[in-house]
Amino acid sequence: MFNGIRKPLKTAVFISGGGSTLQALLEMQHQLEISLVISNNKNALGLLKAKRFGKNTLFFDFKNNSFDELNDLLVQQGIQKIILAGFMKIIPKNFVDNWQDRIFNIHPSLLPEYPGLRSAERSWEDKNIMGVSIHKVIPEMDQGKIILQNKALVNSDRFSFSESMFFLRRTEQHLLREFSLRWGL
Ligand code: GRF
Repeated sequence: MFNGIRKPLKTAVFISGGGSTLQALLEMQHQLEISLVISNNKNALGLLKAKRFGKNTLFFDFKNNSFDELNDLLVQQGIQKIILAGFMKIIPKNFVDNWQDRIFNIHPSLLPEYPGLRSAERSWEDKNIMGVSIHKVIPEMDQGKIILQNKALVNSDRFSFSESMFFLRRTEQHLLREFSLRWGL
């Protein structure tokens, strides 16, 4: 008998730093099955946050290991989906191709505006509309199909950068919750 509940996909989250976006995903543990949190930075605070939620964590040393080896590890662990949450490394084309349509990124601007680094800073400096995008990852950085997008602040000229980032972080958290609900399965 079909019980109407689909099992969430086993998800790996890649981080590099504080884990502010990871936190939102961890709190959605009934919609997302986060099986592994991987960081290229062994001191990433996000690893502590993941441990506090009882998640498996892994510092992956990219200096001595390759993305191919990471791919094999993920397959071995039965991972079905990847979310990049503040992951600051460029991912090689063959890895992205292996995970086509199953790897997602959250980016702190209204893509296609402000791809790349310092996106929130540049949109604030330009007194432009600030926002957040969740998109599928393809080999070309920040150019995959946009899944969800939301404005964080329309008139950033009225707020300091840190005040603006308060609104942007809040929008990120909201968008990640919506993503987990709609795309967690
Ligand atoms: C967020 O701005 C997110 O949009 C971008 O990285 C930042 C999160 O970093 N991809 P962290 O989670 O605080 O390390």
